[in-house]
Amino acid sequence: MSVALITGASRGLGQALARELSARGWSLILDARGADALDQTVSSLRGGPVVAVVGDVSSPDHRAELAAAIAQAGRLDLLVNNASHLGPSPQPQLADYPLDELARVYEVDVLAPVALTQLALPWLAASGGVLINVTSDAAVQAYEGWGGYGSAKAALDQVTAVLAAEQPGIACYAFDPGDMRTQMHQQAFPGEDISDRPEPETVVPALLQLLDDRPPSRRFSSTELCATVHAR
Ligand SMILES: NC(=O)c1ccc[n+]([C@@H]2O[C@H](COP(=O)([O-])OP(=O)(O)OC[C@H]3O[C@@H](n4cnc5c(N)ncnc54)[C@H](OP(=O)(O)O)[C@@H]3O)[C@@H](O)[C@H]2O)c1
Repeated sequence: MSVALITGASRGLGQALARELSARGWSLILDARGADALDQTVSSLRGGPVVAVVGDVSSPDHRAELAAAIAQAGRLDLLVNNASHLGPSPQPQLADYPLDELARVYEVDVLAPVALTQLALPWLAASGGVLINVTSDAAVQAYEGWGGYGSAKAALDQVTAVLAAEQPGIACYAFDPGDMRTQMHQQAFPGEDISDRPEPETVVPALLQLLDDRPPSRRFSSTELCATVHAR
């Protein structure tokens, strides 16, 4: 049975992906900080076994618990570094960005994925598995106000690219899901009506395409992947 670890799986994209992989019979290790929402997500899954580990990805102790859950499962085929921290809302310009807030964005969006990947790499190497780091168009577009989160995602993109060069035995993808109607998106656009944004479930087929087709490691956007899904 294939085993996936998805961070930030209690809502949004992480939850939508967990639902689909569970339905496909995958065994899942899921995390989030909020215990109630994570429990509700686990209860709603109808598939393979699920281990929920409550905690903050930026905590070394929590990451050690996640590593223990992998060891308990005995294998790992997929790590999805999906949990993310936007920073202050509304997002400040870099000229005024509080440095402690910036450090927190980098801690959650860059250092935690690197640290968790370090723990997961032996397992992914053993299974010839897949690493997916969830990025953003803010990593490559210079939007006013997005300098903290966007530069952190740019660092995550480069981390993913270097891991791909260093770890030829596994597939390493940076995946940009595009705009989604989620709590993080609402936080990024406080007070705005975001009801025209697509639900996170619409992005999951693109992620599954990466798993099914296993193209060479690189950065992908959901729009390019969905275009090839629809062209089939
Ligand atoms: N929504 C968009 O438009 C959009 C666009 C581009 C990229 N993305 C990326 O897509 C990914 C998913 O975002 P989303 O919109 O689905 O977000 P979301 O709906 O806000 O969900 C975020 C998930 O991550 C968990 N989380 C947050 N901080 C955490 C931490 N420090 N440790 C552990 N879990 C944590 C949250 O649960 P708790 O709060 O309980 O911990 C929740 O389960 C992120 O990487 C984001 O950067 C989103």
